[in-house]
Order: sequence, then structure tokens, then C-alpha cells
Amino acid sequence: MRVVSGIQTTGNLHLGNYLGAIKQWVAMQDSLEEHGGECLFFLADLHALTGTVTPQELANSTIEMAATLFAAGIDDRSILFNQARVPAHAELCWILQGTARMGWLNRMTQWKDKAGKNRDGASVGLFTYPVLQAADILVYQATHVPVGEDQKQHLELTRDIATKFNQDFGVELFPLPEPLISKAAPRIMSLRDGNAKMSKSDPSDLSRINLIDDNDTIAAKCRKAKTDPEPLPDSFDALADRPEARNLVTIFAALADRDPQSVVEEYAGQGFGAFKPALADLTISVLGPIRERLTALLDDRAEVGAKLAKGASRASALAAPTLKAAQQAVGLQV
Ligand code: TYM
Repeated sequence: MRVVSGIQTTGNLHLGNYLGAIKQWVAMQDSLEEHGGECLFFLADLHALTGTVTPQELANSTIEMAATLFAAGIDDRSILFNQARVPAHAELCWILQGTARMGWLNRMTQWKDKAGKNRDGASVGLFTYPVLQAADILVYQATHVPVGEDQKQHLELTRDIATKFNQDFGVELFPLPEPLISKAAPRIMSLRDGNAKMSKSDPSDLSRINLIDDNDTIAAKCRKAKTDPEPLPDSFDALADRPEARNLVTIFAALADRDPQSVVEEYAGQGFGAFKPALADLTISVLGPIRERLTALLDDRAEVGAKLAKGASRASALAAPTLKAAQQAVGLQV
């Protein structure tokens, strides 16, 4: 089993990233002892260059996100590094650009959303972004990729690229990676709009709970979260048409490792005046300790950087044979 996943280093890590991805990463790391294999997690700093991040923001974000992952429980059993320190990702990406088709990339919803109407003004990197993501995964011959639901399409593309490469060059180099999508929190929604994803790029900070938010901010964001005036029903399915209410119950259940049905049963008949303070207390009890460890780790940013460098050398050793095999398969003399 080879587990690989990444996070783009722009903006702040939020509760959606934590429940949809990071919590799964920590669980995968724990289950490694049972199943064997490796977990590789990385900060996608090369992907961040496809947007409008400043050099200072990028440098800070890489260290801060790494520290957040350590604070959330990633440790030396996993290999944590930043993508730019392992050049094999970018080298394999270039090779795979010969395999990926324009039509495939044109269908990517993230490309369509992020480029909007001004496609001519979008960076080329934004368009080829999913090919680098495929390289991130395939360069380790990953078998499992724990991600939120929004990354599913990029994973399907990765499988298409792997299949075509194997066929075109008559090799069995790339296994087809399986997406592992959290059942509890596949898609955490904005606190301001139950139909929009909680996202780093939402202009409203009230739309998300950041992992660096202090307790008062978390409580205020829970209090101000959009809801409806109805009390909670006794069945989670009855929340199908109440996206904001459904999202808050989903968050509660995922944070508490409970079934959402048991959460609605506990609060059935009560309004959000009762539910929101309970949600705030629970969120603070989970995120508070992570934030405290994060603050302590950020006292020594150089140490966080040194750990990333160590992770990069472990990752490079694992990537090297696959890159070499891909270069040989296409006939490069290196
Ligand atoms: P990114 O940085 O947007 O998000 C990191 C992880 O968090 C998940 N996620 C969510 N899960 C549930 N609810 C949400 N609201 C939510 N928002 C984000 C994402 O699905 C992701 O798992 N392209 C990737 C980074 C990447 C990558 C890779 C991932 C680069 N290379 C290789 C896996 C494998 C991205 O931008 O994720």
C-alpha cells in the first residue's frame, strides 16, 4: 500500500481540509503499522504558482501548513515534504504532458471554475495543473489517494493518464490509484452558503473555520453560521433540502466521530440556538489542541523547514526508480 496526497499552499487550512483530508491522512498513518507500506504527504507549492500567490505568502504558507500537519498528528512514520524539493514531480509532469489530451483537461471543472470567462488571461499552469497532480501521484506508484470529493475528477484524470501511458509505451509502470474519499466529510460546505464548498479562496472569512482561528473566533463563526428557523428533525435524511442545517450536523458528526443520525436524534426538536453552542464547544475541543501545538511549532520555523528537507530526501529516493523507468519507456537518454 502506497498512500500519497497533497495540499496546495495558498491561504489558510480550514475545517474542510481537516475533516475531508488531514484527518484521513492521520488515520492512514496509524493503519500503516497494520497494512505496511508508506504514506507520503506533501505541500503542493508548485501548484500554488498557478494562482496569484506572492513569494512571501508562498514561503510562509509552506512552513505554516507543514507545521499544521505536524500539529494535527502527522509524524515521522509518514514522509512529509514540499513538492518543489523533489524535482521528479516536475520532470514526470513534463513527460506526462505528452500523454494527457487537451480535451481531457478542458473538461476539468476546477479549470472551468478558476479560469472563468477569461481563459486567455489564465495561466498555462492553471490549465496543466491536473497533469502535475497526476505526476505527484504516479511518480510514487501510489495505490491510494485520500482526498475530498472535489478532487475526484482529478483522480479520474490521473487514472486515464496512467492507462494511456502504460498502453502507449507497452509497460505496466503505473498502477491505477484509488481515491479514498472520507465517508463522514466528503464535502464540507461554507458556513455562509450551504450550496458552496468551504474553500480557502472564499472572500468571506466567516465562510470557513481556519485551523489557526482562536476559540472566540470559532465560537463567533459558529454563532453567525447561516441556518434556518426550523428545529432539527429526528432523521438526518429529512435535512436533504436544508443544506446549511445538514452541513452543520455533518460537521458535528465528523468532528465527534459519530453517525449524523445519532446527532439529529440527540437534538431533535431543538433549534439552532441550542445546537450552535454545542457545535462551537466541540469544534474548539478538537481544533484548540491542534492550534496550541501549531503555535509552539512555529516558534522554530527553521526546524519545520529542516524536517521538510529530510522528508524530501526520503521521497526523492522513492520517486527516482519510477522516474527513471518512465524516461526509459519514452526513450529519453538520461
Ligand atoms: P486543496 O489544497 O484544495 O485541498 C486539500 C485537501 O482538502 C480537501 N478539501 C475538502 N474536503 C472536504 N470539504 C471541503 N470543503 C474541502 N476543501 C478541500 C481536498 O479535497 C484535498 O484533499 N489539487 C489538490 C492538491 C494536490 C493533490 C495532489 C491532492 C496536488 N497534488 C496529489 C492529492 C494528490 C488541492 O488543491 O487540494
